[in-house]
Amino acid sequence: MAQKRILLGVTGGIAAYKSAELVRLLKKAGHSVQVVMTGGAEAFVMPLTFQALSGEPVRTSLLDPEAEAGMGHIELAKWAELVLVAPASANFMARLANGMADDLLTTVCCATEAPIVLAPAMNQAMWANARTRRNLRLLEEDGQISLWGPDAGDQACGDTGPGRMLEARAIADRVDAPARQVLAGQVVVVTAGPTREAIDPVRYISNHSSGKMGYALAAAARDAGARVILISGPVSLPAPAGVEVRSATSARDMLSATENAVEDGCDIFVATAAVADYRVESEAGQKMKKTREELSLTLVRNPDILATIAGRPRPPFTVGFAAETNDVEKYALDKLERKNLDMIVANDVSRPDTGFNSDRNTVTVFWPGGSEALATDTKTALAARLIDLIAARQHHDDTATPRKKTNSRIKR
Ligand code: CTP
Repeated sequence: MAQKRILLGVTGGIAAYKSAELVRLLKKAGHSVQVVMTGGAEAFVMPLTFQALSGEPVRTSLLDPEAEAGMGHIELAKWAELVLVAPASANFMARLANGMADDLLTTVCCATEAPIVLAPAMNQAMWANARTRRNLRLLEEDGQISLWGPDAGDQACGDTGPGRMLEARAIADRVDAPARQVLAGQVVVVTAGPTREAIDPVRYISNHSSGKMGYALAAAARDAGARVILISGPVSLPAPAGVEVRSATSARDMLSATENAVEDGCDIFVATAAVADYRVESEAGQKMKKTREELSLTLVRNPDILATIAGRPRPPFTVGFAAETNDVEKYALDKLERKNLDMIVANDVSRPDTGFNSDRNTVTVFWPGGSEALATDTKTALAARLIDLIAARQHHDDTATPRKKTNSRIKR
């Protein structure tokens, strides 16, 4: 079972008392939990209660310089692998649906790429109210957010009907319920981020890749039950819990780290890294001085990691990425064939709103004889969808006449 970094948001409602038990259960299951309370929540439960149970300071304010000097709200948003808001009041959902960021919890929800789960708790009439329904529709349409509950039954106010928060045990069980374990028992190797090609001891050639897509895919493969090895170029992202991260700097480092990992047994290889196509032919041993008016560097081709792995005698199921600015389908299909891939994920990087360095992406996936366009979504949500597709195609290839067989079953 994967241990996650969970940010628990507690909003104002009597069900907040159940959240204390929820923290205890999540901690007992091995998760790291940090609690953010809204002003309303503090009227029901003391922050000290959550601090004692989570073992972490509880955050209540966006404008607290002392707390922000520790883990600021953006770091908190990046730290979270799951944002769980329980209880989620009608007021909180209204603010979230309208994109407001007027307190710490709504700000974190706007800034995070992690999935957000809401466990609503409110009076049954408030739950049925047309404005609440409209807010729910908005939240649903925007993606990233799912709803757990509410339950129906007796309410604290004396009414009976839907609106009760799920019991803490039900929420904790759902956090740990294996998503669909479509990759159970498999080994997945993912490359991510940029590479750096040294010019001299202080300078290098690199690119703007953030590594977000690769890190999201590694976490999604972990959630699907795989053992995941993430070969990462230099990025500023936290390692996903339960994923083995191996650092690489240059393309050649990344190739040897990848070959080692694949050699030890690998069922699926996903290459999301933006590997530098060229490196400087001869790296200067000492810092270069600006003695000349012009400087020419000779660049030589780097090895192609993806093509190398796909070209092995018994390759894993191999997935490439293609960033294109034009003729996306034509170039993607060309790479699929030329590099002998099982699948290629193409994104149009000419779009200013998605792709490189963005939190969202729009991709079309191609495989021999088929394709599927995925709607624009967060990289986290797309990663889960891609893992499902990879598992389905891998299963298809295993059951159809195998084009190639993976090597892990022999070696492991
Ligand atoms: N890739 C790799 N090693 C390289 C270059 C690319 O593993 N040295 C992988 C990337 O991780 C990605 C895919 O190959 O999965 C994208 O390759 P790209 O650089 O777009 O393809 P090229 O064939 O180099 O084509 P282009 O001419 O568009 O650069």
